[in-house]
Amino acid sequence: MTTIIDVENVSKQFKIHHERHQSLKERLLHPKSGSTELFDALSDINFKVSDGETVGILGHNGSGKSTLLKCICGVLKPTSGEIRLRGSLAALLELGAGFQHELSGRDNVYLYGAMLGFSRKMIDGIFDDIVAFSELDHFIDTQVKFYSSGMYVRLAFAVAVNVNPDILVVDEVLAVGDERFQAKCIDRIRTFQEEGRSILLVTHNADTVRAICDRAIVLNGGKLIADGEVQDSLRIFREYLLGSAVEHDRTGVQANISIDAVTTPSGSFEVRNGAGMNFDVEITSESAYSGNFVMEVFTRSGLLVSRSDAQGAPVNLTPGHNRVSVGLAQIPLLDGVYDINVGVVDHHGSTVIAWREKAASIQVIYDGREGGIVELSPSIRQQ
Ligand SMILES: Nc1ncnc2c1ncn2[C@@H]1O[C@H](COP(=O)(O)OP(=O)(O)O)[C@@H](O)[C@H]1O
Ligand SMILES: [Mg+2]
Repeated sequence: MTTIIDVENVSKQFKIHHERHQSLKERLLHPKSGSTELFDALSDINFKVSDGETVGILGHNGSGKSTLLKCICGVLKPTSGEIRLRGSLAALLELGAGFQHELSGRDNVYLYGAMLGFSRKMIDGIFDDIVAFSELDHFIDTQVKFYSSGMYVRLAFAVAVNVNPDILVVDEVLAVGDERFQAKCIDRIRTFQEEGRSILLVTHNADTVRAICDRAIVLNGGKLIADGEVQDSLRIFREYLLGSAVEHDRTGVQANISIDAVTTPSGSFEVRNGAGMNFDVEITSESAYSGNFVMEVFTRSGLLVSRSDAQGAPVNLTPGHNRVSVGLAQIPLLDGVYDINVGVVDHHGSTVIAWREKAASIQVIYDGREGGIVELSPSIRQQ
């Protein structure tokens, strides 16, 4: 395998200027006042991306994801270290970056193309494909300042994927816009993968990472804290979420919770299709905590079969040992092994407080002849 992106000992510092004089007038009168501090947005980052690989980048807001992508794309220059690329690169950076608001969609396509190193003639050749992909035919001659954020993303994505880059870099923008268009972008990314191109993808969506990335790295406070299999990196990312949940808990309650084990009354995790199953989740909490219990079921190929309602299962944990019982009345799954992730989230269902990937695996036994993941038992009659 050839290395397509090589990031070596990359650090990026920003100068942060602390103003002593607050008003504009005072600032004009004392332009050199205040103090300057150096801030490490990236510290000694090392990783490689090979030919045909899709790598996800995970991390909290402010962890340095966008800064890293900007360094890779050449928009920012690292303070130290080196980045080597093989092949052409197209990037979808933060929203609106690279667009001229007063110009039409059409003019911006040419401008954006030029920024990526393409001549007018080359863009002429792919212009219709770009417009078709963006679904903005009626708006292509409208000034982009009248576009919604979703429309921006559509146009930028359409340009980036139609210039056939060897490397595609995408910064979170997929989260913008409607689900149908997101699905279309993911489809296009899959085509890219089949063509053996390399992709770097920043996203907050664990499902997207699971579905399309071969590997994921985790940034925390500008440092690379994990680089490995998607499942492992997601787990580490969640553990750091847990860490920050403890730090930022404004109620002052230390939500230090661990999920110790998942057990069944019989000790067996085998179940027949159509039968029910109960299991217990053993949880240790350092203090009282009210949140919600969540469980996920995945196929071995990493497809999400089901996630329980993150606001629908309140739990009131007490200090010490707690047990949460989960009952599944009737399991409609076909034969196979399914992995179960369990966790505790806050009462909004938005922040993970404790999480355990693959806390248990269940083996479903099925004698019927349906294929796939789930038994639908269709009634089929010729009329
Ligand atoms: N141009 C800049 N000047 C000063 N600080 C910056 C600049 N760009 C980003 N930062 C800071 O660097 C850190 C990392 O930012 P960023 O890479 O945008 O994080 P992420 O994309 O992971 O949310 C943040 O603390 C942010 O405030
Ligand atoms: Mg960012």
